[in-house]
Amino acid sequence: MQHDIEIAYLGIEVPDPTSLSTFFGDVIGLVPGEPAAGALTWRNDAAVQRLVVEAGPADDATYLGFEATDAASFAALATRLRAAGYELHQGTDEERAARRVSDLVHTMAPWGVRVELVHGLARDPGGFTSPLVPGGFFTEGVGFGHTVFATLAFDESHAFLTDGLGMRQSDWLEMEIAEGIELEVRFYHCNERHHTVALARAPFEMPQRLHHVMVEVTDRDDVGRAFDRAWGAGLGIANGLGRHDNDGMFSFYVVSPAGFQVEVGHGARLITDDWDDNRRYDRISAWGHQPLTPP
Ligand SMILES: [Fe+2]
Repeated sequence: MQHDIEIAYLGIEVPDPTSLSTFFGDVIGLVPGEPAAGALTWRNDAAVQRLVVEAGPADDATYLGFEATDAASFAALATRLRAAGYELHQGTDEERAARRVSDLVHTMAPWGVRVELVHGLARDPGGFTSPLVPGGFFTEGVGFGHTVFATLAFDESHAFLTDGLGMRQSDWLEMEIAEGIELEVRFYHCNERHHTVALARAPFEMPQRLHHVMVEVTDRDDVGRAFDRAWGAGLGIANGLGRHDNDGMFSFYVVSPAGFQVEVGHGARLITDDWDDNRRYDRISAWGHQPLTPP
């Protein structure tokens, strides 16, 4: 599938970046990248950094980078964002160096996270291996993973993703999760990954914008091994093993020490050029995904 963008990296800000090192390294199985000024970085493929954990008070995601597949796509996307009315700022030399990219423009997404459009994210010629995830992560042509944000600015955020970034809605979820409480989530793709961003309509201002970030492993057993590590570490399992109804992903959700969740998954179905399954779902999961309490 021809595509223009995929997630390059996610920026997280917590008071102490080392507070997430055991979690990302020993539980999720990411591999440390080179530390940057005041930040720790993590990798899940040959890209030199996919997750950047910076020191600061936000306790949340603070920026999300989208990598254009080539210079022409970068220029076209920047033009498209400006034409849709979003003010783009040129990245500084320091910002390009910190993000390890050759080109960078940025704007503020309506859900309150800075979105960066980049080109030329550096790759390690030595490739990538994770001792804990021997099968590696599925990123080729689909980027780092997916991110899900909760926002009061739901309609504005939908317009930003579709009119601004040129994403398409894959499908959506609408269900009553408790008496009188509706859940609405919309899922968006920009490449073969079923969704690269999803938006949840927040009922009120949420403590964190980032609900979860998902990494997809290529071997189903690596989901199980990650589950065992999360369980063994005594972390909160927001959702045990299960399979989503819409993207078909087999996964679980572990609560990070910073509050947001990480989903480790495998085997989601892929978007095709002739995708015509943009429809409503009324359940999150076909089976499983129950909240679990460690013994
Ligand atoms: Fe997810």
